[in-house]
Amino acid sequence: MNAAVTEKPIKSDQKRLLAALRGRIPDRPPFWLMRQAGRYLPEYRELRRQAGNFLELCYSPDLATEVTLQPIRRFHPDGAILFADILLVPHALGQELDFREGDGPILAPIRSVADLARLRPAAVHERLAPVYETVRRLSRALPADVALIGFAGAPWTVATYMVEGGTSRDHALAKRWAFADPAGFQRLIDLLIDATTAYLDHQIEAGAEVIQLFDTWAGVLPAAAFRRWCLEPVRRIRGHLADRHPNVPVIGFPRGAGALYAEMATIGLDGLGLDAAVPLDWVRGAVPPKLCLQGNLDPQMLVIGGDAMTAAIREILTSLADRPLIFNLGHGIVPETPPEHVAALAAEVRAWRSPS
Ligand code: CP3
Repeated sequence: MNAAVTEKPIKSDQKRLLAALRGRIPDRPPFWLMRQAGRYLPEYRELRRQAGNFLELCYSPDLATEVTLQPIRRFHPDGAILFADILLVPHALGQELDFREGDGPILAPIRSVADLARLRPAAVHERLAPVYETVRRLSRALPADVALIGFAGAPWTVATYMVEGGTSRDHALAKRWAFADPAGFQRLIDLLIDATTAYLDHQIEAGAEVIQLFDTWAGVLPAAAFRRWCLEPVRRIRGHLADRHPNVPVIGFPRGAGALYAEMATIGLDGLGLDAAVPLDWVRGAVPPKLCLQGNLDPQMLVIGGDAMTAAIREILTSLADRPLIFNLGHGIVPETPPEHVAALAAEVRAWRSPS
């Protein structure tokens, strides 16, 4: 932990996270952790109890700002991710959504073009205004060396929740709609591309400095369907954002994409989030050397901690720290994670020095 104290102060225009996304190699790799705010932190559980309901937490600028800052105070990562959820977009579009303890999200399913008439795209930004207010508050509250990360779900992943009505094991209904009626399913995807682009545009105007697109279920599609429903929508969102905010980097996280990660590296993203299964020796050769990689410690390593975790962290750093890298997990922190293990991870990454 001493490494944190002896680190040289850096100017606000030299945030390590932004440097890495611009293709540079800072003194040490920046880090943040997916789901760094959440149930593994006792102070989160306390606020969550006060808020009563998870959506209230997301739509309260006071509480969402506080929850975003909780892991920053404890671990001082190089990035702070806005506290919200990928399902706020369908909710703001007018789809009924409820988070039930133990069941995850429950949505009133959209399963056909006729069901799309229930959505109200015009009302989206009014409903999401509290999220933009959270971003504004965070951009004032964060330490000068911490980059503010905005995010959204990628259209395919958000569509799976909208169609299935919640989390699903095989995504059968979303796949069947996409395979049987691609023109109809495209209308849902197009609607999500537009709503997501505008949502991210507002987050950037409010102060988000980096954007991550979470495509949690990218890995369940055959290659041709992946290209149409994962790669193409992300390319379009990236393109629209580049027109309006050319200096704001975008990280794609096509979880489970396997060999198709190589194709995701060709669509203008600044960073590529790797899941824990991606072989690092393979990915080095499969993507351009300037493209920033992010990942990919298995979240269960963070649960067990100790020597096994330290060895796994060092393996990632040894494999990738000679190129732009953001150290992260391969998926979100799980609730069983001891916070002390996160502190140990932070100390380990902070003590690392990039090869010069
Ligand atoms: O990373 C962060 O700290 C920022 C906040 C954030 C949350 N969800 C908070 C959250 C982010 C970036 C997300 C993304 C998200 N949400 C994804 C993509 C990434 C991933 O994990 O695959 C997905 C698929 C969702 C949808 C979602 N939200 C599900 C399926 C669930 C239920 C499962 C669970 O973990 O509880 C959520 C709830 C959720 N989102 C919680 C948090 C902290 C837990 C809610 C609670 O406190 O009860």
